Amino acid sequence: MDHFLYRDGVLHAEDVAIPEIAAAVGTPFYVYSTATLERHFKLFDDALEGLDHLVCFAIKSNSNLAVLRVLGNLGAGMDVVSGGEYLRAKAAGVPGERIVFSGVGKTRDEIRMVLQGGIRQFNVESEPELRAISEIASELGVSAPIALRVNPDVDAKTHEKIATGKSENKFGIPIAKARAVYAEAAALPGIAVVGVDVHIGSQLTELEPFVAAFTKVRELTLALRADGHDIMRLDLGGGLGIPYERSNFAPPLPVEYAGVIKSVLGDLGCEIEIEPGRLISGNAGIMVSSVIYLKQGEGRDFLILDAAMNDLVRPSMYGAHHDIIPVIEPAPGTEAQPFDIVGPVCETGDTFAKARAMTPVGPGDLVAFRSAGAYGAVMASEYNSRPLIPEVLVNGDQFAVIRARPSFEEMLGRDSIPEWL
Ligand code: LLP
Repeated sequence: MDHFLYRDGVLHAEDVAIPEIAAAVGTPFYVYSTATLERHFKLFDDALEGLDHLVCFAIKSNSNLAVLRVLGNLGAGMDVVSGGEYLRAKAAGVPGERIVFSGVGKTRDEIRMVLQGGIRQFNVESEPELRAISEIASELGVSAPIALRVNPDVDAKTHEKIATGKSENKFGIPIAKARAVYAEAAALPGIAVVGVDVHIGSQLTELEPFVAAFTKVRELTLALRADGHDIMRLDLGGGLGIPYERSNFAPPLPVEYAGVIKSVLGDLGCEIEIEPGRLISGNAGIMVSSVIYLKQGEGRDFLILDAAMNDLVRPSMYGAHHDIIPVIEPAPGTEAQPFDIVGPVCETGDTFAKARAMTPVGPGDLVAFRSAGAYGAVMASEYNSRPLIPEVLVNGDQFAVIRARPSFEEMLGRDSIPEWL
C-alpha cells in the first residue's frame, strides 16, 4: 500500500492534492510521501526483529537529503557508493558508524575521506582495492573495517543491466577465491576483517536466487571461521523487487525475504545488514507531468508530455514499465484508448509507453507516473538543456520543495566561455 490515492476524484499524496503542488511548483516534478518511506523502512526493520541487524538504505535509489533525513531519523543506516553519497548521508545527520561503503571503483581520495570521517565498513570488491585501503589506513594510523563482497555466481533472474551476481559481472571477488583473499586481508596492516558482503542484483521478483546466494555465504562464513577469521557481520545487499504494474503479480514481501535470511543464516550469530533501495523509495514517489499536445499520427495517437527521458530514464534505458494515470480520476465507465506516451526530447528513445491504454486526457491535464521514487530523480540529466525537475516531500497535509528547479540562468551559469573566444 502507498499513500497516493484518489480522494473525491483527485489524486493526492497523503493529504495534499497533486494539483495544489503543481500550481505551486509547476510541472514536471517528483513528489515523495513521508508515510510511505517510513512504512517501507519499518517493514524491513520489523521483519528482521530477533536478529541483531541494521537496514542500510541504498542512497543510489534516492539521495535527496530530506528523504535521507526521514530514514535516518528512524535509525536507518546508509549504503553509499561514492564520496558524494557519503557526504549526503553525513549531511542528513547519519553518523559514520551507520554508513557502509560499496562499489567497484572507490578512489584513493574517497577512501581517505571516508576513513577520516568515520565508516562502519568498506565492502571491498577487489584485491587492488584492499591493498589501497590498507595503505591509506596505515598512512592515517587507523584500522579500516572491511567485508569482502563475494560474487556467488548466482542468476538473479532480473534485467541483464541490473544483475550483479554472475561471474561475468564486474562485481565482487569470485567466491572460490574468497578464502585466499581473506587470508591476505588478515595479514595486511590497517585492515580489520569484520564480515562478508554479497549483492546479486536489483528488482528481484523471486526468493530462490537469494536462497542460493545466502546459502553460499553461509558455507563461506563457516569456512572462514574455521580459517580463524572473526566473521561477525553479514551484509546481504539489496535487490528485493517492487510491483510496477498494479494488476500484475506481486514480488515476495520483506517479511518473506527476512524469513529466508533467518532460516539460512539466523543461527550463525552474525549481525545482519541489508541494503534495500527500491523497495523503500520506489513506491514512495511519483512523477507528475502535464500534457502539452495530443498529436494524431498515422494510426496512433501521441500524448506529448512536458516530462522526458532526461527526467525519468528507466523506460528508455531498461524498457521499464511505469503505470501512468490521470491526476483527475476518470468517470466510471470511461473507455480507455491506446496512446503512445512520449516526451519532447529529440530522439525516438524518448518514449515512456507504446499503445498504452489510458482514459483520454488533453492539453494541460496532469498525469502521474507511479513507482518513480527510486532511480528517478537520481538518474535525471539536463539533456536537451532541460533543467533538473524539482522534488517535493509531503508529510500529512504539509508539503515542501526539497530540491528547487534551477533557473535557466543557473543552468547556463555553470558553463563558461574561455577568454580567447
Ligand atoms: N546494494 C548495492 C551494492 C547495489 O549495487 C544496489 C543497487 C543496492 C544495494 C540497492 O538495490 P535495490 O534494493 O534498490 O534493488 N538503476 C536501476 C537499478 C540499479 C541498481 C544498482 N544497484 C533501475 O532503475 O532499475
